[in-house]
Amino acid sequence: MIDTLRKVFSKISDLLGVEWAPLDIPMSRRLQTLGATAWICLALFGEALAIYLFIKLVYSDYWWLAILYGYWMLNDIEICNKGGRTFEFARNWSWWRYFCDYFPITLVKTADLDPSKNYLFACYPHGIFSSGAYGSFATNGANFPKLFPGMSAHLIVLGGHFLVPFFRDLILALGLCSSSQESILYLLDPKRYQGNCVAIMVGGAAEALDSHPGKYKIILSRRKGFIRVAMKSGASLVPVFSFGETDVFRPIDNPENGILRRIQEKVRVWTGISPMFPLGRGVFQYSFGVVPIRTPVTTVVGEPMEVKKNLEPTSEEIDAVHAEFSKRLTELFEREKSKYLKNHEGIHLVIT
Ligand SMILES: *[C@@H]1O[C@H](CO)[C@@H](O)[C@H](O)[C@H]1NC(C)=O
Repeated sequence: MIDTLRKVFSKISDLLGVEWAPLDIPMSRRLQTLGATAWICLALFGEALAIYLFIKLVYSDYWWLAILYGYWMLNDIEICNKGGRTFEFARNWSWWRYFCDYFPITLVKTADLDPSKNYLFACYPHGIFSSGAYGSFATNGANFPKLFPGMSAHLIVLGGHFLVPFFRDLILALGLCSSSQESILYLLDPKRYQGNCVAIMVGGAAEALDSHPGKYKIILSRRKGFIRVAMKSGASLVPVFSFGETDVFRPIDNPENGILRRIQEKVRVWTGISPMFPLGRGVFQYSFGVVPIRTPVTTVVGEPMEVKKNLEPTSEEIDAVHAEFSKRLTELFEREKSKYLKNHEGIHLVIT
């Protein structure tokens, strides 16, 4: 009886093309899958859930708590532009350790950083959800404090995320700050901070639309704002590259000029968020779902490039620094790719 059932079940699975995870998986791997699943749920639904909970609270007997919280949040609204509010203990949660070990996400340094200075980490590629940059710079799960003693990491995200009640408290605790120029200059100000590493995904949501397995097509030629910010603050620019980031999901094909791509671009221009269909695997099977694929992501922090402080850089001066940075990022990619990418001979960095 059981045998027949098993046969029928495997027939159906074959028909649907579902590949099930084995049952005898060690506990540590199960916890890793749980960590990665919880993370993608947080990224996809966390904000909607937080807003739902807040509304629930407003209409409950504890409505006064919602009022108190709302009042406090309004008074606190600028914090995302003023250095944020990191709680190391939240960055240390074992959730992040399991999350990083799932892929695994590995943080690699190629040069020591000086804890008396601030650095602007220009990170590529965005991928679908920037899992490498998240694990490396928004959590201690990839050993940031051990690799860069005396430094504090701040991952930069769109300011809108800090308007969501409850959700904002979590991301603030993880050291995240807003992407406004004011916010980044604040974090890099040597009079206020020393040892800050401010990590920005330069390509942003626009680059996410170009994330496809084994491809490294990035947006850099028209991105100059981060160069201006580095020059204004005098912080060194650090090229950072996450090898394997584009393998974490298999998004639907969206060729440029195709109808899907045009819709995605429209939504992105309107909302700042790229609508994406992060196809990975499921919790118990490997064929469908939004759980990221278990594939290594290596975030390599390159050598810092000194930038001369210049409060009013001309566009020629910006272009010169931009050209030098582009050269260094390409060198980092070409030098390191053989260590972290399979079939690396055929993989090149495409800069648009
Ligand atoms: C977080 O972990 C680091 C080591 O990775 C440790 O030095 C630090 O004390 C921890 N901080 C907290 C608040 O748990």
